[in-house]
Amino acid sequence: MTVSIQRTGCYALVLGVCLGRKPDCLTVWYPEELGGTGLTKAIYPGSFDPVTLGHLDLIRRSSTLFDSLVVAVTNNRVKQPLFTLEERVAMLQEVTADIEGVQVDSFSGLLVDYARSKGAQIVLRGLRAISDFEYEFQMALTNRKIDPVVNTVFMMPSEEFSYLSSSIIREIASLGGDVTPFVPAPVVEKLRQKFPG
Ligand code: PNS
Repeated sequence: MTVSIQRTGCYALVLGVCLGRKPDCLTVWYPEELGGTGLTKAIYPGSFDPVTLGHLDLIRRSSTLFDSLVVAVTNNRVKQPLFTLEERVAMLQEVTADIEGVQVDSFSGLLVDYARSKGAQIVLRGLRAISDFEYEFQMALTNRKIDPVVNTVFMMPSEEFSYLSSSIIREIASLGGDVTPFVPAPVVEKLRQKFPG
């Protein structure tokens, strides 16, 4: 029996299979027994300056794994973003509007504090290449040290987006290049407005 506990709809199925078996099978499958709430909520944090097709690919893939996914845009004052926080949130809202279970939000301060405030125990991050690993490894373990309840889950985007980054896209756009293969259509337009002519 390998049915996932991720979806609420699975509980009835799991319960059905468990009935007639020894009762302790319930302890294996009910997330409450694991200290959870019964719903899996994940936070996908990032700068999203701007959202790329790689981000969107990850959002679509992960939205089928969790009951709800909060895409959380950081209000990081250290990096000077091209798009304001409000612009980044608005672009994400527009391009994820058709994906069920996805909300867009923003946060400042520590990611683990934000995750707790949202009742989420999972942080989702994309891993594109080995070059991402060291930074992601450091961040995941640091976050887990600060708050052991929060675990980081990594997913790979489709290989066709594995080389994409927001910084490369900003550079191409600033130099007048065509970014249509790399970002959703509404973002192409926003980049044109940032770099007219
Ligand atoms: O898209 P990015 O810029 O790689 O995202 C980095 C982000 C936002 C996930 C990271 O900077 C972060 O979590 N910032 C919040 C502040 C924090 O919690 N810092 C400690 C992380 S170890």
